[in-house]
Amino acid sequence: MPCVIVAGGQFGDEGKGKVVAYLSLHDKPKLVARAGVGPNAGHSVVFGGKKFGLRQVPCGFVYEGARLLVGPGVLVNPEVLLKEVDETGVRGRFGVDQKCAIIEAKHIEEDQKSEYLREKVGSTGTGCGPANVARVNRIAKLAKEIPALQPFLTDVPLEVNDALSKEELVLIEGSQGFGLSLIHGTYPYVTSKDTSASTLAADVGVGPTKVDEVMLVFKAYVSRVGGGPLVTEIPPEKAEEMGIVEYGTVTGRRRRIGDFDFELAKRAVMVNGATQVVITCIDRLFKGCFGARSLAQLTSDARAFIQRVEDELGVPVTLISTGERIEDMIDLRDEKL
Ligand code: GTP
Ligand code: IMP
Ligand code: MG
Repeated sequence: MPCVIVAGGQFGDEGKGKVVAYLSLHDKPKLVARAGVGPNAGHSVVFGGKKFGLRQVPCGFVYEGARLLVGPGVLVNPEVLLKEVDETGVRGRFGVDQKCAIIEAKHIEEDQKSEYLREKVGSTGTGCGPANVARVNRIAKLAKEIPALQPFLTDVPLEVNDALSKEELVLIEGSQGFGLSLIHGTYPYVTSKDTSASTLAADVGVGPTKVDEVMLVFKAYVSRVGGGPLVTEIPPEKAEEMGIVEYGTVTGRRRRIGDFDFELAKRAVMVNGATQVVITCIDRLFKGCFGARSLAQLTSDARAFIQRVEDELGVPVTLISTGERIEDMIDLRDEKL
C-alpha cells in the first residue's frame, strides 16, 4: 500500500503527529508530505526524551531515511519553518513546494486583531485565515519569492508521484480534523480550508485514484479548542476528575473535553472514505491501559469500547495509541487487514 493519508476525525489534536511518527519508524516511508492548513496546527511528538510541537515540519522526521516535504496547499510561515528545520536537524532532506502561499506579519496582525476571528471563531491567531483570503484574492506571496526558502524549494507533487510510480511508500500527514472543515465542519466555527482526506491529497498533489489507505484518527474522547458546538461536552471539572486536562500545542489554551461522538465519527468516516480507524489516548480514558502493546493488555472496558467503535463505524480499528511515546502503540494491522 504505497499511498497512506493520516487524517483527523474530530476537531484536530487527535494525535496525528504521534501516529505519523509511529508509522514512519515502523513502515519506513520514502517520503512524508505534510498537508492541511498551515502553522495553526501543532503536532506533538515525544522523541529521544524531548517533546516537539511541530507546526510545519512533518513528524516523519523521526525516521532518518524519510524525505520530508511540505505540499503546495499548505501555508508557510518562513520564520516558524526555518526554526523547526534547525530544531529537528533535517536540513539535508527537507523540501518546501515552490507554490506554498506565505503568511506575512500583516496576516498575523489581522487574525489577532479581528474580534470576529479571535473572540467568536477562536482562531489560533497564526494568520492562516487572512493568508488564505490573500491566496483566494490572488495577492499572496509564494514560497519561491522568499530568499530564505530558496535552499528548500522543490516540486512536491512531482516528487510524491515519482515515488508512487516506483511503488515506494508515501505518508501524507494531515492536520486539523473533520469538525473544523470549512466545508463539512461546524461553520462558522471552522478553519479556513477543507480538512478531509480528498483535500489533504490535493494539498500534496496526489489524485484520488492514487490513494490506497485513509487512516482516520480519533481520540477515545473528543477535545476542542476555540468556539463552536461540542454536543457531547462535559464540564471541565468532570474532565478533571477523569484526569483529562489538555492544553493546545500552538496557543496554550485549555481544550474543551467531551465524550466520544459516534454520530460525528460516522460522518467523518463517510466523507473521508476511511479504510482504517486509529484510536489514541485510550490510556487517558481507561486507567490501566498506559503503555499496552497488545489487546490483551487493555482493560475489558477499553476492549469493549474498541469493539463498539469498530461495530458502529464499520471500519477496522488498526492502531490503538496507549501513551505519548511513539512506541506506546497496539498495532493490529497484521491481523485486521
Ligand atoms: P493537529 O494537527 O494540531 O490537529 O494535531 P495532532 O493531531 O498532531 O495532535 P496534537 O499533537 O496537537 O495533540 C495530541 C496530544 O495528545 C499531544 O499532547 C500528544 O502528545 C498526546 N497523545 C497522542 N497520543 C496519545 C496517547 O495515546 N496517550 C496519551 N496520553 N497522549 C497522547
Ligand atoms: P484558525 O485555523 O487559526 O483560523 O482557527 C479556526 C478554528 O480552528 C479555531 O477553533 C481553532 O482552535 C481551530 N484549529 C485550527 N487548527 C487547529 C489544530 O491544528 N488543532 C486544533 N484546533 C485547530
Ligand atoms: Mg495539535
